[in-house]
Amino acid sequence: MSGVVTVVALVTLCLCVRAKAAVKMHRQQDGKGGHRDASISITNGASAGNTPIASMDQAGVEMGSMSYFIEGVQNERPIRFSSEQLRGFTQGFAHRVGSGGFGVVYMGRFPNGAPVAVKVLNSTLGRRAEEQFMEEVGTIGRTYHINLVRLHGFCFDAAVKALVYEYMENGSLDRHLFGSAPETAIGFDKLHEIAVGTAKAVRYLHEECQHRIIHYDIKPENVLLDAGMEPKVSDFGLAKLCDREDTHLTITGARGTPGYAAPELWMPLPVTHKCDVYSYGMLLFEILGRRRNLDLHSRESQEWYPRWVWHRFEAGEMDAVLALAMAAGDMDDTEKAARMCKVALWCVQYRAEDRPSMGNVVRMLEGEDHIATPGNPFAHLATYSAGVMLSGDGDTTTGSDASSSRFTGR
Ligand SMILES: Nc1ncnc2c1ncn2[C@@H]1O[C@H](COP(=O)(O)OP(=O)(O)OP(=O)(O)O)[C@@H](O)[C@H]1O
Ligand SMILES: [Mg+2]
Repeated sequence: MSGVVTVVALVTLCLCVRAKAAVKMHRQQDGKGGHRDASISITNGASAGNTPIASMDQAGVEMGSMSYFIEGVQNERPIRFSSEQLRGFTQGFAHRVGSGGFGVVYMGRFPNGAPVAVKVLNSTLGRRAEEQFMEEVGTIGRTYHINLVRLHGFCFDAAVKALVYEYMENGSLDRHLFGSAPETAIGFDKLHEIAVGTAKAVRYLHEECQHRIIHYDIKPENVLLDAGMEPKVSDFGLAKLCDREDTHLTITGARGTPGYAAPELWMPLPVTHKCDVYSYGMLLFEILGRRRNLDLHSRESQEWYPRWVWHRFEAGEMDAVLALAMAAGDMDDTEKAARMCKVALWCVQYRAEDRPSMGNVVRMLEGEDHIATPGNPFAHLATYSAGVMLSGDGDTTTGSDASSSRFTGR
């Protein structure tokens, strides 16, 4: 008993010392000595209750809030920062690492030296984007998986709306897949591992969270790589929480990114978590081909790669596909590449119910499940090009059985 008390006392002491040290370092770094109080305050402020958010400001310490802080640290809840603090972390937003649809990402450091990525959201964002932002904070705060990027904190004040993520040293997967330097190209074995890690992250979001989370924007830019080249999925800005009981989630407005967005996202069809499976399939094609699925800038590759793969697969000419995937020279991995190809074809089936679950995807990619022969995912496109109206049914060749046995052939 006395041992337990000692451990609790030591942990409490340690956390207090660390919090004070962090503030001291921050004050030294941003060069401002004029804060109202010399000590940090961790209060639950506006984010109190069951929300997964801890708030950090410059008001005085209250003893009652210390236990909230300790709980927040233990639960790794996102912390609320002020815009001045973010300015300090990023040295005045000096080092820009990229930008996307919602804003600009800067590299920064916490006072303890840990690198962070600060995503400053566009100031012109309307009300809807603001809602998305708060949604993203709440959503990520409830998730933890080794293949998901951690959200350390956020800023939500009049001047700055931002998210503070763990920094991923090796950037996003697109830079490695589509970069022009072959010497830095990732070997196929590693690419397969990245594909599996990404699939596990999405499986977690779909099947293992208390409330299912749909990502809506799976693409190479949102697969980040840490110092050890382990993949972590980022950006839940488009994610919506939906209860497991809901079979269909009705949404308004287009989501996702063209080329990765499932047909049901831009057609009047019910949207489910299977839209992520479709986007993941498109990502798999790009991993397999090490090219954008549609690259209009390249003279050689103006054909839509997924359909080219289907035609080769249908004609029994898988060697052509595998030769491209194995361009980096790892011929031992042809079996993995063949699996990846079949799984990609399953994932992008036109009808959402014909696509596998992410659990199935992981097992098929890892070779645990046999993979049945996929049907033509692009039959509906042939219908379009023939100028015939889409009938609405029978436009895939795979029937309507949604059980996992259809992918695995068992
Ligand atoms: N946590 C991070 N660590 C390191 N680099 C990051 C991090 N987050 C983002 N980046 C880099 O910044 C770039 C821009 O990211 P951002 O999410 O703003 O745009 P995007 O992913 O291209 O598009 P979208 O807005 O649809 O997500 C990424 O492509 C990535 O290279
Ligand atoms: Mg992104």
